[in-house]
Amino acid sequence: MTAGLTIGKHQVKYPLIQGGMGVRISGYRLAGNVALNGGIGIVAAAGLGLDSESYTGKNFFAADHQALVDELRKAYEIAPDGVIGVNCMVAVKNYDDAVRASCEGGAKIIISGAGLPMNLPGLTADYPDVALVPIVSSVKAAELIVRKWQKSFQRFPDAIVVEDPDTAGGHLGEKMENIGSGDYDQYATVRGVKAYLREKWDVEIPVIAAGGVWDHDDLEYAMQQGADGVQMGTRFVVTEECDADDAFKQAYLDCSKEDIGLIMSPAGLPGRAIKQNIEKIWQWDKDNDTYCPSACLKKCAYQTSRDRFCIMHALDRSQKGNTDTGLVFCGSNAWKAKRIETVKEVFAELFPDVE
Ligand SMILES: Cc1cc2nc3c(=O)[nH]c(=O)nc-3n(C[C@H](O)[C@H](O)[C@H](O)COP(=O)(O)O)c2cc1C
Repeated sequence: MTAGLTIGKHQVKYPLIQGGMGVRISGYRLAGNVALNGGIGIVAAAGLGLDSESYTGKNFFAADHQALVDELRKAYEIAPDGVIGVNCMVAVKNYDDAVRASCEGGAKIIISGAGLPMNLPGLTADYPDVALVPIVSSVKAAELIVRKWQKSFQRFPDAIVVEDPDTAGGHLGEKMENIGSGDYDQYATVRGVKAYLREKWDVEIPVIAAGGVWDHDDLEYAMQQGADGVQMGTRFVVTEECDADDAFKQAYLDCSKEDIGLIMSPAGLPGRAIKQNIEKIWQWDKDNDTYCPSACLKKCAYQTSRDRFCIMHALDRSQKGNTDTGLVFCGSNAWKAKRIETVKEVFAELFPDVE
């Protein structure tokens, strides 16, 4: 089963991508250590600058660029030969710049969702070895991307991540009313994307299942169901190496199944999170009279009409340990977290039959 994974020119021992988790939940430490242990480590680009030395409170985009380059350098110090990439969200205003900073900083893979990354190959044209991986939740979205990439760039994705809205953490690529309805079939979508690539284009491209994979059995099931690998987020939050404050990890250890639910992000997308403090998150912005400090999103209800809350800063607060008024994104499996492990221990549990 553990046949490794090749994405573009990059190969790893285990068919595992650690999902990008913003804001600074998967920074250099987590990504570097996952890469060191034989998986693909992914730094999340979103909001890195907010905690960087060069951030003055007024230069969010410039600080973000430099922080991403620095983050990649530190990740490669941990795993010099590892496969380290960046998660860039299409929904952020500095998306193009985040992609450029990723290339400059030596990312081997760029994984891109929260919108359709239609122009990604154009942005990375000077870096042909950087593997490009869109995240989709439907066969239709995969078709749109592949058709556009073929027409405009004569390029296929190097892999496609299929993210399950019913289980994944963070922003979700499905309408709120459809999530949890029972209509969505994660592995039918994985097989559908695979079949589309094979039948329409005659290409074999790895299709990666994201969402709801917690342990060895889940991983085996995903592979049996036709995935070429898995992308995991939630399990890696409760590791020593995860870049979040201990309080963020503790929120996972403390939560129950009922605490996990859907919130509506000001970005216009639903998100999965520990939801019981959502009122306090809204209230924090009112009490502190914050108004769009970073203008980070292309589309934001808080920016245009002060509706909901400032998501970048709500995620920034929780990462720094304020889980009372900060937003704690998580996958549907967060309640399964019982202890903090090392990344090495997680790999040992996931791949017991491999040295
Ligand atoms: C705390 C957290 C933050 C996340 N942030 C991002 C992000 O910035 N960009 C993104 O594309 N996906 C994000 N995700 C989704 C993960 O990369 C991953 O695909 C998903 O969580 C997989 O499901 P699992 O958590 O059940 O393993 C986030 C997930 C979590 C739990």
